[in-house]
Amino acid sequence: MSTYTPPTTAAVGTARPRVEGRAKVTGRARYSADEPVPGLAHGAVVLSTVTRGRILDLDVAAVQDLPGVLGVIDHRNAPQLNPQAGHFFGPDGGLFLLQNDVIPHAGRPVALVVAQTPEQARAAAEALRVLYEAQPHDTGFSLAHPAGRTASALFDGPVEIGDVDAELAASAVQVTGRYGTPEEHCSAMEPHSATAWWEGERLQAIDSNQGPYQIAVTLAALFNLPPERVRIRVEHVGGGFGSKGMCGPQLILAVMAATMFERPVRVTLTREQVFLATAHRPATDQVIRIGADADGRLRAIDHEAAFEVSPLADYIEACTELTKTLYAAPAIRTRLTAVPLDILPPYSMRAPGTAPGSFALESAMDELAERLELDPLELRLRNEPVVGPVTGLPFSSRNLVACLRLGARRFGWADRDHRPRLRREGALLVGTGLAATSFSAGAFPSTASITAEPDGTFTVVVAAADLGTGARTALAAIAADALEVGVEQIRLRISDSDLGPAWSAGGSRGTASWAWAITEAAARMRGPGRPATVTVDTSALLGELPSMERHAYSAVFAEVTADPATGEVRVRRLLGVFAVGRVVNPLMARSQVVGGMIGGLSMALHEEGVRDPVSGRHVNPDFAGYHIAAHADVPGIEAEFVPDHEPGLPMGIKGVGEIGNVGTAAAIANAVWHATGVRHRQLPIRLDRVLEG
Ligand code: MOS
Repeated sequence: MSTYTPPTTAAVGTARPRVEGRAKVTGRARYSADEPVPGLAHGAVVLSTVTRGRILDLDVAAVQDLPGVLGVIDHRNAPQLNPQAGHFFGPDGGLFLLQNDVIPHAGRPVALVVAQTPEQARAAAEALRVLYEAQPHDTGFSLAHPAGRTASALFDGPVEIGDVDAELAASAVQVTGRYGTPEEHCSAMEPHSATAWWEGERLQAIDSNQGPYQIAVTLAALFNLPPERVRIRVEHVGGGFGSKGMCGPQLILAVMAATMFERPVRVTLTREQVFLATAHRPATDQVIRIGADADGRLRAIDHEAAFEVSPLADYIEACTELTKTLYAAPAIRTRLTAVPLDILPPYSMRAPGTAPGSFALESAMDELAERLELDPLELRLRNEPVVGPVTGLPFSSRNLVACLRLGARRFGWADRDHRPRLRREGALLVGTGLAATSFSAGAFPSTASITAEPDGTFTVVVAAADLGTGARTALAAIAADALEVGVEQIRLRISDSDLGPAWSAGGSRGTASWAWAITEAAARMRGPGRPATVTVDTSALLGELPSMERHAYSAVFAEVTADPATGEVRVRRLLGVFAVGRVVNPLMARSQVVGGMIGGLSMALHEEGVRDPVSGRHVNPDFAGYHIAAHADVPGIEAEFVPDHEPGLPMGIKGVGEIGNVGTAAAIANAVWHATGVRHRQLPIRLDRVLEG
């Protein structure tokens, strides 16, 4: 019997607190290391202390008899893995753990010690002596590194339109800047943890990750299993920021141990191990040249960028992507170079590519405004493109100008004297800065099922992951509106690879991708015959979208103080104005973009993975040495949304995952220049660098 009830109000667009909020604040929500599993043993990881070399020996006999120890897995007894396993960048040697005696980077897992309790495993892991033959390593990164090669054309391939050199030569004003960003670490609050066990022929795992389906596929390939024999679940995830998009070492090692010891095994990384063995943003080294006419119209942008990579795995830090779409110019040239070094394979982190690329581009634009003695806001408005500057494709919707204008009004930009080092408050120098930015939008195929239950509710099933973003709450609202029922009639199931293929919580495409499948399933459920259960796989619908440039946009405004005596920079005001398509839930969208801006503030002022050039090791792999913005660093942050709609994507959604992170670092760096008169082209803007300036 159908008990269809039309919704009294549309759920999409309404602010609602997250559905699991009470469970989280009362401590009832279970994260992956919290799930009780009977008969559990615990694995502790041992990481390489040399940066390149070979393992000569592991003194397993010396720890074998320590209290509680069940055994040690190393390259001599580990199950064989399939070297072809990988992800969308291709085969990933970073996953190929404990397969040989080769040490390709510091922090490489070399053993797993399995014991009855976590404490026993940890004590034995710390006691395990590993003898290495150290070999010379290279961790010295720069754009000019001779091993650099053009990054593969998977995305952000080189482009050239117009005659860049001729346009630069003909420009009234030209600026050239070299910008650098350091290695940065995702630093999710919850350390990576996995628990694995066998149920007959089926491998079961609970793992802290961003996409249970995709990771199950990778894991199956790695262990030479058909995908249907692997199930991965994850109820709650304490943040990912990219580092949980990969099949993590915790999961691979837990599966090895569960297989060898024939019982459930949990592997939880320590904070240091999260830094050294999961994922990080590679350092970048970027040179930008911009030429413009005297009135500020751009004639040429030349952006050459390099990033570090590991020879083990392909990865692309797409630094130059933004330069192809943000501003109109008759000549644009980009080149992206990957420099292979003896480092942990880099991977996606908080707006990969775009965050460091935007720091370079938007700093260079500010330098151009300075040289032109032009308002940096006006410079952006004069170079707004009508179509994609490189592709010539139309924009699906482009509301950057609305973001800039509203932001300028709200922030009080009109009164700004654009000359630097003019405002003082007591001993402090005060300055303001802005940056414009965009982040690509889109949707990837997923599967969703909807079942009409006899009690009038609908069970909606999609293998999404909720990293703390509010994905559950957003999807329930989307399903309710698509089915034209109230949200209380939606029973949502996510976080389980058995629910079918689905895109991960990544690339700012989770909500749009999952919503695509849910809305298609809902449309069929309400269509002819009113079936009781519908399953839709949107990969069958691929290719229906017309070719367009699809991006979210934002304008970020910052006010900083700089203390000339101590070099301390503090952000006093931060405002972001966003065009992100339809806002599914204003409360959580705000939380997403404010969180992103805090990440950008942290990138601007604090975050830096410091590598010792002699040992090749990180010297600050913990929260004592690796600074991330804390409460005291973060001012009241304002976020606003302009009306926006993405015509080609379900419900008009563009995504709010990463756009908040982009632009903020440049806005702050530009404000620091305005305060002090000194450009900071290398992040983070540390006290010592400010003092030297
Ligand atoms: Mo993300 S850095 O797309 O998980």
